[in-house]
Amino acid sequence: VEVPVLGPVILAASRSDKMRRFVSAAPGTKQVVDRFIAGETVDQVIPIVKDAAAKGLEVTLDVVGEDITTVEQSHAARDAYLQLIGRLEELGLGTRAEMSVKLSMFGQALEGGHELALANVRPVVEAAAAIGTTVTLDAEDHTTLDSMFAIHEELRKDFPQTGCVIQAYLFRTEDDARRLAAAGSRVRIVKGAYKEPASVAYQDKTEIDKAFVRIIKILMAGEGYPMIGSHDPRLIAITQELARQAGRKPDEYEFQMLYGIRSEEHVRLAAEGHRMRVYTAYGTDWYGYFMRRLAEKPANLLFFARSILTK
Ligand code: FDA
Repeated sequence: VEVPVLGPVILAASRSDKMRRFVSAAPGTKQVVDRFIAGETVDQVIPIVKDAAAKGLEVTLDVVGEDITTVEQSHAARDAYLQLIGRLEELGLGTRAEMSVKLSMFGQALEGGHELALANVRPVVEAAAAIGTTVTLDAEDHTTLDSMFAIHEELRKDFPQTGCVIQAYLFRTEDDARRLAAAGSRVRIVKGAYKEPASVAYQDKTEIDKAFVRIIKILMAGEGYPMIGSHDPRLIAITQELARQAGRKPDEYEFQMLYGIRSEEHVRLAAEGHRMRVYTAYGTDWYGYFMRRLAEKPANLLFFARSILTK
């Protein structure tokens, strides 16, 4: 089973309501979902933040959700983050955890969505800053990125520490990296997890990896704070070497990995003195996030299929 064959099929299914209903109702789903989703509620995710802190790890928290269809849902998304930030403050965990948000969950795709998403995300960024932490804007499919970067730029006027994500598979990204690698910026580079056409994105894994390396070089040579979001051992080794060449100290960049993926590596890199942040997703609207994790690794799909069939 080859990823290039299956990946796009699973990614297409990640946008299908029919598949959403089927997968959500399947008896073995929960067990597999639990590997990638840290819980359904704030109270379930807090012990995970504490556990990460005890292991010397930082976290970035993502309330799962995307592609919403009503303004009310966009307000609910904002409120879910505000509730989370309130809990972090009460528990004095503000400096251990930052937030990752998807603007599509804040209404970006609705009519007037650019303004709506900005209006919804601003109070979240404000509340995060008030407890000493920050927010990173995730990168979604390529049609949403001009709006995401414009919102990022707008937020940075008042909150310069607001981060954003760039995706190595897109042809545009080297230019974005050059523009963003300025003093005070925080930029996460990832390979890219959406189904993108050959007109805008590399399709070949080796090409994506090469672009990733070129972008790490740009970010390391710049004056911003690079956040390397990958589980790929080769890219992690290359990052360490490029950081050394750029004369960056361990607190002048960070690694990021996803909750549930290569967890022993999170701890190993942190123990070596690297800053390691675990992207920790929680909530009930996990379908899109979960399907992208299946698409990344065919073995996950086989495991998932087996767990459905044996229930
Ligand atoms: P690659 O896919 O080559 O995987 C390397 C190795 O890691 C695999 O061989 C396997 O061992 C392990 N691995 C990777 N994925 C796995 C999985 N799902 N299950 C089990 N093992 C797995 N994308 C995006 O488009 N927008 C975004 O905002 C973000 N944000 C983000 C934050 C963080 C912190 C990370 C780590 C990733 C993202 N991504 C993302 C996802 C990213 O684009 C990419 O799809 C995944 O990170 C997988 O790519 P890797 O770099 O890990 O390499």
